[in-house]
Amino acid sequence: MGKIGVFDSGYGGLTILKEFLVSPVLSVYDYIYLGDNARTPYGNKSTNTIYKYTCQAIDFLFNKDCELIITACNTVSAKVLRSIQQEYLPFNYPDKKVLGVVIPIIEEIVEIQARKIGVIGTRATIESHIYRKELEERDVDKKIFEQATPLLVPLVEENWIGKPETNKILKKYLRPLKNKKIDILVLACTHYPFLIKDIRRIMGKNCKVLDVPKIMAEKLEDYLVRHPEIKNKLDKNKKRIFYTTDNADYFKDFCKNFLKDEKGNFQTIKL
Ligand code: DGL
Repeated sequence: MGKIGVFDSGYGGLTILKEFLVSPVLSVYDYIYLGDNARTPYGNKSTNTIYKYTCQAIDFLFNKDCELIITACNTVSAKVLRSIQQEYLPFNYPDKKVLGVVIPIIEEIVEIQARKIGVIGTRATIESHIYRKELEERDVDKKIFEQATPLLVPLVEENWIGKPETNKILKKYLRPLKNKKIDILVLACTHYPFLIKDIRRIMGKNCKVLDVPKIMAEKLEDYLVRHPEIKNKLDKNKKRIFYTTDNADYFKDFCKNFLKDEKGNFQTIKL
């Protein structure tokens, strides 16, 4: 029997785990969260480094009995997930699955009747042009406008959410997308949902800002229905364990604030 692993470069993936924990369907499972806080941010690192860190995280989570891993990190999903799925997994863990955030978001965008899509993310995610490429592969009549917003992760990490300085930076980053009159904005980074209220206000009512954590929860529910061979192997004890590569006390404080009544186990590990 196994658990669901959620991996992120730091705290950001908690935005996605939170949605899993409030879903009546998903909250019954056991979760292991791994935040590589000691080596965050990944968004400015090379592909080789991100690949190496992700393989280490995957080894760790599968050794802790995860059956399925969600890489909540957009940078990981954009830069290395395909190679991991096509090269690393078949060789090392042929029966296990690692899923990312890009394909679920793309599936959602394809369903929505909108043409102009804005995407904001780390430099690594935006420079990978993954959203544009995936949509082009599906040959849909949509235009993508991409914008790297590298200052947002440190602002969230410093908890400068809602501060005038942060809103000024947000306005500057979002102005080009607003000028393009985009219909949909994708927050392609785990940290940005912390800023969603201000982003929605700045973009105005004509732009739909996708709620990525919610989409991920819906897609995971759907995935488990379609994959009973995985679903049937998952433990349902509502256990939550949190591992971080940095200070477990800081991590616990952050979780307490953000996940509210979270009573998991918190440990520092070395990858
Ligand atoms: N987790 C990363 C992402 O979603 C943001 C933080 C980082 O750069 O590591 O892209």
